[in-house]
Amino acid sequence: MFTMNASLENIKNGINELDQFNSTKGQGTTRILFTDVELEAREYIKDKMKMNGLTVEEDAIGNIFGVLEGQDPKLPPIWSGSHIDTVKHAGKFDGMAGVIAALEAQRMIKEAGMKHKRTIKSVVFTSEEPTRFGLCCLGSRALAGELQRKDLREICDEDEESLEQVLERLGYDLNAFHLIKKSNHDVYASVELHIEQGAVLEQLGKPIGIVDAIAGPSNITVTIEGVQEHAGSTPMPIRVDALTAASEIVLKVEALAKGSSSEHTVGTVGFMEVYPNASNAIPGKVTFTIDLRDSDMAVKEEVLQELLSSFKEIESKRQVSIHYVVDNHDQPMHCDNHINSMIEKICLRKSIDYNRMISGAYHDSIFVGKFAPISMIFVPSQGGLSHNPNEWTDFEDIKLGTEILAESLLTLANE
Ligand code: GLV
Ligand code: MN
Ligand code: MN
Repeated sequence: MFTMNASLENIKNGINELDQFNSTKGQGTTRILFTDVELEAREYIKDKMKMNGLTVEEDAIGNIFGVLEGQDPKLPPIWSGSHIDTVKHAGKFDGMAGVIAALEAQRMIKEAGMKHKRTIKSVVFTSEEPTRFGLCCLGSRALAGELQRKDLREICDEDEESLEQVLERLGYDLNAFHLIKKSNHDVYASVELHIEQGAVLEQLGKPIGIVDAIAGPSNITVTIEGVQEHAGSTPMPIRVDALTAASEIVLKVEALAKGSSSEHTVGTVGFMEVYPNASNAIPGKVTFTIDLRDSDMAVKEEVLQELLSSFKEIESKRQVSIHYVVDNHDQPMHCDNHINSMIEKICLRKSIDYNRMISGAYHDSIFVGKFAPISMIFVPSQGGLSHNPNEWTDFEDIKLGTEILAESLLTLANE
């Protein structure tokens, strides 16, 4: 049994120091992929890894690995990590808690002199959030082989700079891109600690969640074209208003998600641009995104099909044209039963109350799960708030999660 305590100071300082790399200080945390603050945060993590005696590796899309070598480095390693990029005006825990917890778990194992056969790697996955390039989980998607060299040219930010151009400008060796992909058995197991981002643990009064499945996201970008006309002189019956058509879709997304046969279906329209965006012009064009998720792929497929067929009805009813692109349609991922029972046993032995649960938020683990057995440890989010400047998780809860994580990693590293 591993009895060493995680250091509350290390966890607190790690999260607070990382939070200094923030482009919206005073208005939540914003750290967008490959901006100055994100690049500085990467250097901070690499320095921390080196100070902790780890070897630092980085692949051609910027996934960072801190290597704590095992007694038999030829065995497939154990991974633990998360992300350090954020949505706009986010909190300081989403992603960062998992990175700092992985570093602290490695430090505990190393300082306690615990022997482990397998290498343990902490990981910072590149851009879990879709904030800059509209596509989530760039680093872990590439590790799973679902983002390839040829795709980099097609993925652009709002300044029309492609991911390829950005990576080249920063000196990443794109000739080595094919080396990123992992195959089955390259990694023995992976466990990610994350804040829950919902209120289930808080409501149950339990400090730990063990995740059974992670919902998979589908993201669709929709453009509706109507006719831009004068708001005063165009009679109601002859208008072709792109925004009223979009509004029907917004409500359809909500109705389909609420009425689905799965309690885990969620649908959101969180981004919309209206042209010309003038109080006295009928909107001629609207672009918006749909985020649809479920832990049951078959139900998500059904909802998506029903949604897309409603576009045709709205087109003919309102005379608009609707174009859409399905940007990603990702599978949910099941966590590994063996790892989950092991985490459960650790909790039982330590008399820690836990809850087996579904993650409605997605995580890099959905892609890691494509080539390795995975699990996730959740710690409570106050009020269930996340993607919000007021996101909060007590450091004591992260400490407890880190201790369970450290013991899990050590157990797996000796299998
Ligand atoms: C990840 O941040 C998500 O949107 O679930
Ligand atoms: Mn997030
Ligand atoms: Mn996250």
